[in-house]
Amino acid sequence: MRTKACIFDLDGVIVDTAKYHFLAWKRLADQLDIQFNHEDNERLKGVSRMDSLDIILEIGNRNISESLKLEYATLKNDWYVEYISKMTPDEILPGCIDLLNELKIAGIKTAIGSASKNTPMILERVGISSYFDAVADGNVVSKAKPDPEVFLKAAEMLSVKPSECFVFEDAIAGVSAALNAGMMCVGIGEANVLDRAHFVVPGLNGIDLKKLEVIENEINL
Ligand code: BG6
Ligand code: MG
Repeated sequence: MRTKACIFDLDGVIVDTAKYHFLAWKRLADQLDIQFNHEDNERLKGVSRMDSLDIILEIGNRNISESLKLEYATLKNDWYVEYISKMTPDEILPGCIDLLNELKIAGIKTAIGSASKNTPMILERVGISSYFDAVADGNVVSKAKPDPEVFLKAAEMLSVKPSECFVFEDAIAGVSAALNAGMMCVGIGEANVLDRAHFVVPGLNGIDLKKLEVIENEINL
């Protein structure tokens, strides 16, 4: 196999934390008297914390100072941390552990490539920190997806070339980031939404090493 590494987005690929992000943003929106629903929450997937807040303020037609924005983002994050601090290993999405074990046996390196600054805490709470050879997250990169920075950083940490990496992503911006990095990309979700990915499956349980080998043979980078 030419694949030397697999890089996983965290939120929506390994764990379903979108529901906790929603609860925390909803709490803030309610407090600010801004209407915010599940459909709006879709727009926040893969988007950084400050950009997410900007979207919510735009929905509510609010214009506020940068210092107040920081205050609101901190408030939201405090509530989010309250939710994720109660996460358990049961919340790892189906197929994830099997795939990670298969990759380990095959000698394929693994990394996280996530925008979230809460990545270390989530990995620790669900008990999978030790599965990853590297973690590239919101604490070590500054440019948001679709910029390829986070995935290129992960490849650099693993000492592999971008063309030797598979990325697993559930967000449109994340798929674009993987392609911008010159990597192979498996979309996790719906094919009509993630149509730029090289291959799309509903969840990691739809993927194994054999399938990755078939997919990589169909990709010309
Ligand atoms: C992404 C999520 O992984 O991380 C976004 O999809 C989130 O919804 C972003 O806003 C930043 O996360 P955090 O935990 O640093 O606020
Ligand atoms: Mg995601």
